[in-house]
Amino acid sequence: MMTPPAAAGPRQRRLRPAGPGDRLRPAGPGDRLCSRCALVVFLLAACASSGSGRVVTSLPGFDGPLPFHLETGYVEVDAQNGAALFYYFVQSESGASAPFLLWLTGGDRCSVFSGLAFEIGPVRFVVEPYDGTLPRLQYNQNSWAKVSHILFVDSPVGAGFSFSREPKGYDVGDISSTLQLYDFLIKWFNDHPQFLTNPFYIGGDSYAGKIVPFLAQIISEGRTLPNLKGYLAGNPGTGEIVDFSSRVPYAHGFGIISDQLYETIVTHCQGQDYIDPGNALCAQAMNTFNDLINEVEKAQVLLDKCVYASAVPNVDSKTDASDGRRILGEEVGTGKLNHPPARPPFGCITYGYYLSYFWANDKRTQEALGIKKGTVEEWVRCHDKDLPYTNDLGSAIKYHRNLTSRGYRALVYSGDHDLVVPHLGTQAWVRSLNFSIVDDWRAWHLGGQSAGFTISYSNNMTFATIKGAGHTAPEYEPERCFAMFRRWILNRPL
Ligand SMILES: *[C@@H]1O[C@H](CO)[C@@H](O)[C@H](O)[C@H]1NC(C)=O
Ligand SMILES: *[C@@H]1O[C@H](CO)[C@@H](O)[C@H](O)[C@H]1NC(C)=O
Ligand SMILES: *[C@@H]1O[C@H](CO)[C@@H](O)[C@H](O)[C@H]1NC(C)=O
Repeated sequence: MMTPPAAAGPRQRRLRPAGPGDRLRPAGPGDRLCSRCALVVFLLAACASSGSGRVVTSLPGFDGPLPFHLETGYVEVDAQNGAALFYYFVQSESGASAPFLLWLTGGDRCSVFSGLAFEIGPVRFVVEPYDGTLPRLQYNQNSWAKVSHILFVDSPVGAGFSFSREPKGYDVGDISSTLQLYDFLIKWFNDHPQFLTNPFYIGGDSYAGKIVPFLAQIISEGRTLPNLKGYLAGNPGTGEIVDFSSRVPYAHGFGIISDQLYETIVTHCQGQDYIDPGNALCAQAMNTFNDLINEVEKAQVLLDKCVYASAVPNVDSKTDASDGRRILGEEVGTGKLNHPPARPPFGCITYGYYLSYFWANDKRTQEALGIKKGTVEEWVRCHDKDLPYTNDLGSAIKYHRNLTSRGYRALVYSGDHDLVVPHLGTQAWVRSLNFSIVDDWRAWHLGGQSAGFTISYSNNMTFATIKGAGHTAPEYEPERCFAMFRRWILNRPL
């Protein structure tokens, strides 16, 4: 999922191109320590890495023992501030030697539980009207864990159940949080050496799609995790203007804006920043454009926009729907912690998010997951800019180019009904890497029907669309996405 593009895009682009910070050495855990702190750190470290997590055999709301192997735990990534990342590790149902996938969720600071329970993990919510009892979970038939191990990590610090003892520990950005993830992985594999030889992949949607290639680059430069094979990114942010400028041809092709407005934008916004235009004619056209696209659900243009009913009496209804930002952070209004989220109408795609709040904040759930008391006052599916975050990575394209030039495999996929990061922009930057085509544009199929379209390049990068899917594709088209993932991860053509 995606930090609001308006905030993420242009700001990042204005930063220095590929600066020195882009190739930071991995932060060693002890880097900034004084000797006086050493004992404390030692104790914390001993605590953080004690054993290798907690095996969870049942989950509140899930009927019976879990039919898959789940482990949860923390890994400390910032000893000075006492910050630790929380993880859910799901072992593959296809055996110990299955590929290993690290999965990240986008922002603003969305919990990776969202990826687990709404996208690719082995459970999903039973969507039924909330009546005050614990929401129920069921097995997900399209779980990607059927073919790979999945390590879901709440990152950056402050997402989901990841926490910092000191407030300063929450002040991270693209670069620092990615280095923390690297640190996390080194420690995690140190505790789980049996998985070091599995083919290792990194994946994520939306804003995580920008972090994924950067993390892969860092891993590829190190020696500790030798088995990186590739990565996948869905409707990924890149930090480039094309993520957002492609909304214009997309909205035009979809019949959301007129020919005339399209022509006006093309004429007057050429070379402009679409988010923060430099001339009045472009600005005016973009205002009209934004009004029009606000009429649709940007994360999946065919769905209803959901008007929120309030969960508690005497609270104004929210009228905004789950657009690119809201879909990520509708539960928390800034400064409104300890409030249940506004209740969407039953049947709305976001109703499951609503249920997740009550499930994750339930004492029984937190006990089962081994959540440390006093670390996270209130779990929220996504934050809403209430914690500091710096978009300091610039463009991710150079990492895509670098990695795929060196033989790492990449799958870049787009839900084709997403207006947040439309497939047109993604297709354009994939093409701009200038590799030759090895498998030309064609349909890929499931159940005798086209399930999307795909093209593959000589750098082992495959681009694929998923017919009918929205911004976080597996959430909207689980069966197609699972088929796509399965074929790709097992080295088969889509
Ligand atoms: C990719 O990055 C590595 C490490 O930073 C660098 O040594 C290498 O020259 C780059 N390769 C390409 C093809 O850009
Ligand atoms: C693409 O991947 C295959 C198998 O994963 C590998 O053998 C081949 O060398 C890769 N191609 C490039 C151009 O790196
Ligand atoms: C790709 O090729 C085109 C023309 O063939 C060229 O203009 C462009 O600069 C190239 N892009 C990159 C990133 O090399």
